[in-house]
Amino acid sequence: MNNASEVAVGGSSKRTASARVRASRVQAYNIADLRTMAKKVLPKGLFQFVDRGTENEYALQRMRAAIDRVAIRPKVLVDVSQRTQETQFFGVPSAMPLAVAPTGAAGLLWYDGEIEIARAAARMGIPFTLSTASIVSMERVAQEAGGRLWFQLYMWPERSMSYELIDRVKAAGYEALVVTVDTPVTPNREYNRHNGFTLPMRVNRRNAVDVACHPGWLLRVFMRYMLTTGIPSLENFPESLKRRLSQAPSPIKCDSLCWDDLKEIRKRWHGPLIVKGILRPADAQQARDCGADGIVVSNHGGRNLDASIAPFAALPAILDQVRGQMEVMIDGGLSRGSDIVKALALGATGAFAGRAPLWGVAVDGEAGAYLALQILHEEVDRVLAFVGAPRLSDLDAGLLHLDAN
Ligand SMILES: Cc1cc2nc3c(=O)[nH]c(=O)nc-3n(C[C@H](O)[C@H](O)[C@H](O)COP(=O)(O)O)c2cc1C
Repeated sequence: MNNASEVAVGGSSKRTASARVRASRVQAYNIADLRTMAKKVLPKGLFQFVDRGTENEYALQRMRAAIDRVAIRPKVLVDVSQRTQETQFFGVPSAMPLAVAPTGAAGLLWYDGEIEIARAAARMGIPFTLSTASIVSMERVAQEAGGRLWFQLYMWPERSMSYELIDRVKAAGYEALVVTVDTPVTPNREYNRHNGFTLPMRVNRRNAVDVACHPGWLLRVFMRYMLTTGIPSLENFPESLKRRLSQAPSPIKCDSLCWDDLKEIRKRWHGPLIVKGILRPADAQQARDCGADGIVVSNHGGRNLDASIAPFAALPAILDQVRGQMEVMIDGGLSRGSDIVKALALGATGAFAGRAPLWGVAVDGEAGAYLALQILHEEVDRVLAFVGAPRLSDLDAGLLHLDAN
């Protein structure tokens, strides 16, 4: 998985740049810089689709505040000259404790965006999760990106269609299945309606001026699809669903999903099974009892239930319930290396990043997505040095001061 020709920055895990992939032209020193640049190049409707939360956006604020309430009490006079953040997910090595989160429509930010991010993840030596709602098909990502691929499943009400999808995921050689369980209905993202933004994306009366004001994106991304594969659509969807969506764009959600479905999925999927969107200890336990190998403690990046608890706030009780029985990953608002280190010190076995690689791909394709991952790698490395933890196994809750302000 860890391609020896790849680059990771800092500490003992320096590698050399791959000749095949150009370095990013972009001068960004942190994830916030990439976000600022992405805001300039993307139509407003698309930028907000990625950036924003839902309703009053309290979940977004709570997510960040919960991370900031945890502070680090660093250990000093520890020899940190031999640092590594290498770890494992499901027994397979990973260059850092991070996986790319599934993000539907990444392919709208850059032509073939999913392939570009997956290549960046492969180059960094970490897993990439492809969303059910991707613009590029799972088969093309598997053929053209390489690396360690996980597939995120949104169940459809017609279960047989989802089972066929799982068969495709197997046939395409994906390693793990990530079942998202926190989206029974369409989230109330009012800004999408204001902006005329839909999935699949259409140019319409409400967003035409916005799109026209971003000719770079229009030519580089949208027109390129129009000239090759046609209007960007959700390529993992069966033809019948694609046809339905082309007549009336609206998300297809499954509000009858329940634990029996998870048991059925477990019977059909023999690789690592991850349940994404867990916020309660009892649900974590039940996922384990249904045979899941891992969970992602997540509120969907603050994009679904605006009143939801922050993942960082939910994590300790969940760990008390299932620590050591399964992998417990976390996501939501992790935009600095210190955020990832804090999550691991709390006891998480890994983290997911959603928006960070999206901002990177939006500004510079694969090189930009890689830059985002590289920034996070470098930041984690620096924090490990500062806290006196040369290895991830040196992190524990004793390093943390909770309820800091
Ligand atoms: C634009 C966008 C699209 C997303 N699409 C999906 C998706 O298709 N499936 C899913 O399980 N989660 C999806 N998510 C949620 C992410 O997987 C992840 O939980 C969240 O982005 C983590 O927060 P972060 O962006 O602050 O890192 C999406 C998030 C964003 C920002």
